[in-house]
Amino acid sequence: MKETLIEMARHNLRHATAGTIDQADTIVRVPASHYLDANRYDQEIDKVFKRMPLVVGFSSEFRDPGDFRTLTIADVPVLVVRHADGELRAFINSCRHRGAQIVVAPEGNAKSFACPYHAWRYDTDGHLISVFNADEFGALDHEGHGLVALPVAERAGIVWVTLDPDSTLDIDTFLCGYDGLLDLYGFKDWQLYDRREVIGPNWKVAYDGYMDLYHLPVLHRQTFGTGMPSQALYYAYGPHQRVSSPDPGLAQLAEEPEAEWPTARLLASVWTIFPHVSIANFDGGGGRAVMVSQLFPGETVGESTTVQNYLMENLPTTDAERESADAQFKLLEYVVAEEDYATGIRQQRALAARGGDVLFGRNEAGGQHFHQFVDRLLETGDDQLSELFEKEDQP
Ligand code: FES
Ligand SMILES: [Fe+2]
Repeated sequence: MKETLIEMARHNLRHATAGTIDQADTIVRVPASHYLDANRYDQEIDKVFKRMPLVVGFSSEFRDPGDFRTLTIADVPVLVVRHADGELRAFINSCRHRGAQIVVAPEGNAKSFACPYHAWRYDTDGHLISVFNADEFGALDHEGHGLVALPVAERAGIVWVTLDPDSTLDIDTFLCGYDGLLDLYGFKDWQLYDRREVIGPNWKVAYDGYMDLYHLPVLHRQTFGTGMPSQALYYAYGPHQRVSSPDPGLAQLAEEPEAEWPTARLLASVWTIFPHVSIANFDGGGGRAVMVSQLFPGETVGESTTVQNYLMENLPTTDAERESADAQFKLLEYVVAEEDYATGIRQQRALAARGGDVLFGRNEAGGQHFHQFVDRLLETGDDQLSELFEKEDQP
């Protein structure tokens, strides 16, 4: 896959040298209601968030058997755990007795899980292993009363779970080969340094910003400066999109043999993972780092929660490195909360008053592709889901 990165870098450099950019065919209009309508939002929860594999964490958070995490997405409580066979398992975090949430801790290590209500116990494979006062409860077939399993997969050091236990959408079909590029980061050996949450606007108002470099020198002029690029090249693998700005600095690389072009340099970009993740490169903390932003839908159409994960190739070892990582992460939190999302919250209020459409220009192909894909997904039945991804063009 490194050859693909090199091809992308060559394409990028051609544009940077010529002062040109790829453009979509037309300006695309998206009805304001797509961001504001509660019925539309319910459909997006059902057809997007409950059917797509979603990023729930990183392989490095589940190093040892019994390492687990819990999280709640779209009101579905999820438990993810490393089983003794080395593979991950995911379950709906609800007891088969009377439904209590079994694991409440956000993370930890356990050989088995006891329900806090009446102490029914399950192993890391989801099997019901014991029932409290079993003789008095009555005869029960344990095999038929294990935890409800969810599809789970690890690729490129990233963990995905699908909230639909009956999903037949294969993760590799869904990823369209994109994970082969992400794998070049080597995330499976990276470490989570810090994680925090930012409350934001409607998930698509928020997500649009991650595919949009057009706003960088404008909205972020006070934090990132006016020298930021406003142009973007989009590379789509199905609905997943790499977003890069033309980079004249690549000309230095072009003087070296391709085999020596450093992979880390070639990866520099924003990488979005449909429908809710963005990965951006940063330096801070003495080495390579990325911020992985996971967007989750909120209680209402106008709210979302973003989990910001600061992932590092090597954790800081000195106070100076820790201070630098903290400063970088704090700046990113500020930029997203006070610039992107504060603007987004005012934007959706203004949009509700005005109605009509929003526009995605020929220079905003990423947003066009994203909204068009969400539209197609809403119209696609479960039995056609795999086909929708198989049909997607790849570069
Ligand atoms: S609800 Fe879990 S043991 Fe009763
Ligand atoms: Fe932004």
